[in-house]
Amino acid sequence: MLRLKRCLLFIFMLFLIISSSQCQISCALTSFSNALDLASDQREIQHVCLYEIGWCSMIELNYTEAYRAFERLKTESRWSQCYYAYLTGVCQGATGDLEGAVAVFKDVQKLFKRKNNQIELFSIKRSEKLRSSSLSKELCSLAVIEILYLWKALPNCSTAKLQMIDDVSCLGLKNLLLGAISKCLQNTKEAIQYFHLAATDEVGGLSNSYVQPYSCYELACVLLNSPETAGKGQIFSGILTLNRLHVRIHSALASMRAAAQP
Ligand SMILES: *[C@@H]1O[C@H](CO)[C@@H](O)[C@H](O)[C@H]1NC(C)=O
Ligand SMILES: *[C@@H]1O[C@H](CO)[C@@H](O)[C@H](O)[C@H]1NC(C)=O
Repeated sequence: MLRLKRCLLFIFMLFLIISSSQCQISCALTSFSNALDLASDQREIQHVCLYEIGWCSMIELNYTEAYRAFERLKTESRWSQCYYAYLTGVCQGATGDLEGAVAVFKDVQKLFKRKNNQIELFSIKRSEKLRSSSLSKELCSLAVIEILYLWKALPNCSTAKLQMIDDVSCLGLKNLLLGAISKCLQNTKEAIQYFHLAATDEVGGLSNSYVQPYSCYELACVLLNSPETAGKGQIFSGILTLNRLHVRIHSALASMRAAAQP
C-alpha cells in the first residue's frame, strides 16, 4: 500500500515538473506548494518540492519564501547542505536579517564536505567574502541575482521585478549584472554600457575572476546581435578589451609554465 502511494506520488511529481515548464513561475509555485502538503510523509518528494519552491521564489525575488525553503533543505537534505546553506544565507540577508545571514554563512564553512565540488567551492568562497566585508541587504540581493545569472535563470524574472533592482554595490560584478538585467529588458544600449564598464574594471576583476571574461563574452554577443546600434568604435573597443584579456591570460600561463620548470 505504501509502495503504491509512493509510486503514485512520484508519477504526480513527474507530471508536475513537466507541466510546470509550460506555465508561469507563479503557477509552478502553487503546484509545488500543493504537492508539498500532499507529500507530508514522503521526505524525498518534499525535498524536490522545496527545491522548486526555493528556486521559483528566488526568481520571483521573494526572498522570505526562498530562504524558508532553502533553510529546510539545509537541515534535512543530504545533498550539498553547504550549497543550501549559502542559498539560505544570501536570501535571508536579502530580507534584511543580516545577523541571521552571518550565522548561516558560518554554517557554510562547517558543512563544506566535497573539496572537488565546484558548487561547494563557490559557496564557501562567496560566504567567506560576505562574512568578512561589511554585509548589507543590497550585497545579499546582489548575491541572489548573481546566482540567477550564473544558473541562467535571469531571463525568467519578470521585467517588473527586474526594474526594481537598480541599487546594488560592488562595482565589476554590479555592472555585469546590471548589463545582464538590461539585456533581459532588451535595453541594448544600456547593456553595452554596463558590460563595457564591467569588462574594463581591472580592480573588480581581481576579486571576481570570472567577471571580466564573462563581460567580454556578453559584450561580444550583444554587439554581434545588434549591428545597427553598435558603432564601429564600440566593436573595436570590445575587440581591444578581449585582446588585452587574451594577452593577460597568455602571459599568466607562460609565467606559470616557467615557474613549473625544474
Ligand atoms: C512571498 O510568497 C508568499 C507565499 O507564496 C506570499 O504570501 C507573499 O506575499 C510573497 N511576498 C512577496 C513580497 O511577494
Ligand atoms: C525560463 O526561460 C527560458 C528562456 O527564456 C525558457 O526556455 C524557460 O521555459 C523558462 N522557464 C520557466 C519555468 O518559465
